[in-house]
Amino acid sequence: MTNSSSSSFLVTGGTGKTGRRVADVLQSRGFSAKVASRSGAVRFDWTDRTTWGPALTDVGAVYVVGSEDPSAVDDVRAFVTAAAEHGVRRLVLLSARVWEDLDDGSGSVLATEQVVRASGLEWTILRPTWFAQNFTEFPYFVAPLTKGELRIPAGEGREPFVDLDDLADVAVTALTEDGHNGRTYALSGPRAMTFGEAVAEIARASGRELRYVPVTEDEYRAETIAGGESEEIADVFVELFRHIREGRSEAVSNGVREALDRDPSDFSNYTARTDFSVLG
Ligand SMILES: NC(=O)c1ccc[n+]([C@@H]2O[C@H](COP(=O)([O-])OP(=O)(O)OC[C@H]3O[C@@H](n4cnc5c(N)ncnc54)[C@H](OP(=O)(O)O)[C@@H]3O)[C@@H](O)[C@H]2O)c1
Repeated sequence: MTNSSSSSFLVTGGTGKTGRRVADVLQSRGFSAKVASRSGAVRFDWTDRTTWGPALTDVGAVYVVGSEDPSAVDDVRAFVTAAAEHGVRRLVLLSARVWEDLDDGSGSVLATEQVVRASGLEWTILRPTWFAQNFTEFPYFVAPLTKGELRIPAGEGREPFVDLDDLADVAVTALTEDGHNGRTYALSGPRAMTFGEAVAEIARASGRELRYVPVTEDEYRAETIAGGESEEIADVFVELFRHIREGRSEAVSNGVREALDRDPSDFSNYTARTDFSVLG
């Protein structure tokens, strides 16, 4: 990208699991990154469009963290228009691999992908599997693991968890280098694992007593709602875990190799370098 050294990169969701890493990698490669979110160094709020213009000023490319909220597609459409008006030339959208399987055509995150594809800007779409770092950074996993048990209805289904350092590497490469325009990268780790295997590896690496307990959908829904979550959130997770349980998420994807010409990092690499103090 010709102006990549003279302008900033806007990282939405910049304080989140992926955005934080994308900003770190950009900065470690000498680029200027605007870390944007409601609590970020650059204030950016999807629900407050007055924050968009200042965030988009002097920005050449944007990392866009999507949302599961179907109404978000209108915000993303307006944001993409604003980005083009501010001279942004390139977008890298965080989507999810699962949505292609679950899409019912009624305004899902895939609609956000379509907005980005139709933007007239250069675009790259990232479709990751479940993140390895969920076990230490995703409240819905961390909270139960601090009590020793992850109780979810994923059965013996397998998931090739992607390492977020790989995702950030792909995102930054797509933001800063040519050759990724119009590409949709499905990003996974190299090994499909059951939740039992993943939790056992974390238990071994962290020296903690942790176990995975496969529960029924009804048990999970009841426990999640009793824990203070809405029925809507519980139902979304039930559907996501069913997708894994039914073996529909077990395929390994090639996106890390396609984008970076190297293999993705194994789950054991994540457990070897992770600080597990968050698990108590
Ligand atoms: N977890 C997984 O395994 C997985 C797998 C595939 C895809 N995904 C996708 O990953 C996305 C989430 O990305 P992530 O995990 O990197 O983020 P995250 O850790 O969930 O953090 C959310 C980020 O968005 C910001 N944010 C929340 N509400 C906002 C608002 N109204 N306006 C502006 N910023 C807002 C938050 O910062 P503030 O609170 O400061 O605003 C934070 O930086 C979801 O779309 C999900 O579908 C997740």
